[in-house]
Amino acid sequence: MPTSIGPLADFALDKPTQVSIGGEGYLVIRRSQSPDEVCVVRDRCPHAGLSLSRGPRGGYADGVITCPWHNSSFDVCSGANLDWTPGFAGITAPSWSRRLIAMGKSPAPLTVLATTVLDGVVVVDD
Ligand code: FES
Repeated sequence: MPTSIGPLADFALDKPTQVSIGGEGYLVIRRSQSPDEVCVVRDRCPHAGLSLSRGPRGGYADGVITCPWHNSSFDVCSGANLDWTPGFAGITAPSWSRRLIAMGKSPAPLTVLATTVLDGVVVVDD
């Protein structure tokens, strides 16, 4: 169902903004490379279900969001996993420990919502 989440201009460039859609937390990312559109991903890491926006480290840069808990990284527009459980809280762990950190979970993508901008307003299809 299409849901309006606010004017495009309200979303700062390169700064993920948390919004609630259908009672779930999502992050809206307006990239400086494409300021006339946004990407919207669920604020929940597919590894352990923890928040991407709240935690000890992590962050966003150049279209990639890094989970603050075990450092998995994702493309914010496609949701594709780029790196899976390489460490803890921003610190890279030895490569042999990745499987332990993964806790049996295989790499998975972020949940991404389809978005459009209509008359300057961001609309998501949830
Ligand atoms: S909860 Fe995100 S990498 Fe583990």
